[in-house]
Amino acid sequence: MEAQPSYLPLLRRIVNAECNAEQYLSAWASATPRADVRQVIATVALREGEHTKAFQKRIGELGFDVSIEEAPQTAGRVAIAGATDLTDREKFEKLGLGTPPDTSAPDRWADYFADTSIDIGTGELLGRFISEERDSVRLLAGCYAALCAEEGGPSDSGPMDRIERLLEQLVARLDDAVPVPAASSSTTEAEFRAALRRDGFDDEIRITNYDAGVPGAELHAHEFSARLLVLDGVFILRTEGEPLVLHAGECCNVDAGMRHSESTGDAPARVLAGLKHHC
Ligand SMILES: [Fe+2]
Ligand SMILES: [Fe+2]
Repeated sequence: MEAQPSYLPLLRRIVNAECNAEQYLSAWASATPRADVRQVIATVALREGEHTKAFQKRIGELGFDVSIEEAPQTAGRVAIAGATDLTDREKFEKLGLGTPPDTSAPDRWADYFADTSIDIGTGELLGRFISEERDSVRLLAGCYAALCAEEGGPSDSGPMDRIERLLEQLVARLDDAVPVPAASSSTTEAEFRAALRRDGFDDEIRITNYDAGVPGAELHAHEFSARLLVLDGVFILRTEGEPLVLHAGECCNVDAGMRHSESTGDAPARVLAGLKHHC
């Protein structure tokens, strides 16, 4: 039996993330009535599916196997993506997709080649994968921007349009069950990090220091899911429901598309976040 390459867990995480993303993107491509949206979503879905197969194949060539498990959020994301009573723009927003690449944040794939033991075949595959993933982010952002422009997006509409849109969103949300994250206590930081790896989170870990008295910006959503562990102090996650007050050693999940903002009370906080991207 070959010695297990240090990058095998990364390859297995890619297989699982790509397979789960393909499921909801395929459901969306089948459901959309618009040919232009279908063209973009189907292209990205095909890439996700091909990445699943290509990395499964590579793992096999290296002498190992990989099991695919459905992520807990996938069924909900497939339901949103395949819904016939949501517009494509609403699907982008509920799924937390379509955000242009944030050039001020660290590139989420930048660390993939930090492991200098990666073999030539796997390196070649990873290079193509990363380039296609970055292009998929651009394709989705372009599609979402075009839909916003058609409907009158936030950047080119007046304040009354914006208020009207916010009221519509509020009424729509009153009909929905608002998902409120629940706090749970964690044991140690090492165990928390091990659970992130086990549950398919990316290798990117962020540690953020918050000053005391951070009021919390406007509610916003991310295209990635996050799992937070408070390392020190008290961190307050504001949501559309009750704020969640987390003390050192407590953790919670913030799913992609969930509206929230980060704040603190009288004390500063240090928070570790694991991220999981969905396409
Ligand atoms: Fe946030
Ligand atoms: Fe992907």
